Amino acid sequence: MNVLILHGPNLNLLGTRQPEIYGATSLDNINDLLHQFAQNHGLQLRITQSNHEGAIIDAIQEGAYWAQGIVINPGAYTHTSLAIRDAIAAISIPVIEVHLSNIYSREEFRHESLIAPVCLGQICGFGWKSYTLAIQALSDELQEST
Ligand code: DQA
Repeated sequence: MNVLILHGPNLNLLGTRQPEIYGATSLDNINDLLHQFAQNHGLQLRITQSNHEGAIIDAIQEGAYWAQGIVINPGAYTHTSLAIRDAIAAISIPVIEVHLSNIYSREEFRHESLIAPVCLGQICGFGWKSYTLAIQALSDELQEST
């Protein structure tokens, strides 16, 4: 099973960006941990990060040809991007939204996700482990549906 991991804007700064909120683990370290997790579960991962909305949309559209599922952390685009929502709604593979922080315990403007309604589900608040929980959930879901 192929899974695409998409990291949105500012997530390239993980490790130094507000570590009290997002943790001290860098994006490279998180990606290594995700590759290890995927290998242990017999999954193929591709991982991309972009600070640009259009590039994220391209990655979703192209990813749908290769992957059976997508895990996306849209960063601040979670709360603003109809275009990313439409890209997800346009593909037929399951997508899980993740956040390192618990967006519901933060500022009110982070409480709304435009993306979550078109996703299979949302996982937030578990730091980088939000990603492994999402990969696990995707893998279970895909196994059940085959
Ligand atoms: C985030 C939460 C968003 O509100 C924020 O804009 C981010 C990171 C998270 O992973 O907790 O950039 O997606």
